[in-house]
Amino acid sequence: MARLGVNIDHVATVREARKAKQPDPVAAAVLAELGGADGIVVHLREDRRHIHDRDVKLLRETLQTKLDLEMAATEEMVRIALEIKPEMVTLVPERRQELTTEGGLNVVANRDELKKVIDLLHEGEIHVSLFIDPDLAQIKEANKISADLIEIHTGRYANSRGRDQRTELHQILEAARLASKLKMGVNAGHGLDYTNVVPVAQIAEIEELNIGHSIIARSILVGLERAVREMKDLIAGRS
Ligand code: PXP
Repeated sequence: MARLGVNIDHVATVREARKAKQPDPVAAAVLAELGGADGIVVHLREDRRHIHDRDVKLLRETLQTKLDLEMAATEEMVRIALEIKPEMVTLVPERRQELTTEGGLNVVANRDELKKVIDLLHEGEIHVSLFIDPDLAQIKEANKISADLIEIHTGRYANSRGRDQRTELHQILEAARLASKLKMGVNAGHGLDYTNVVPVAQIAEIEELNIGHSIIARSILVGLERAVREMKDLIAGRS
């Protein structure tokens, strides 16, 4: 059964809507863990639009599970990661104007920069995951530059329907199989929700699903612990 990493960025989005102290993503992480989260994911963006440095520091001290720090491959973020020492870092592309992370990393085009960042993080004993589209050439390159894991971008799958969605699912499956064959860890995420998660969760090679918006949105109505538990049940095939 795939593990569940809960992305709590949007708890901080609500806080930042009023530049207030509440809701505190650190409190949300405690509740997500009580609901069965296997890890907590936060994206510290260059513009600090939701998660702040303070959140990452406190999460590092308080989490009972593991911290996955999502970040761009910049000097500033590498310095922060080496200070905080999360269990793992997920490198993502980042653009200021985007609402959320739009595409996967282009590992083929940026291999030298990414390799440098991966090497620095490895010196700090941090596992490194690369967020990439289900594209076999990108996965082979991720393996060549020593990424420990990949996170397959499921956004296109989540946004498509019918036959197109089945094609996207098949690409995710092929990508997961290749990464697993290359002995990399395989995560997946983006746009997964209570209606589309099951077929992805059934791919045996996928070890962890990272899910944010749908869980936080549901939590406003049913509470975070329950929202996480309901997602865990779906992933486990219990409902
Ligand atoms: N994985 C990565 C790399 C992401 O950037 C995001 C969005 O922050 C997610 C997973 C979670 O996506 P969603 O909020 O759509 O569940």
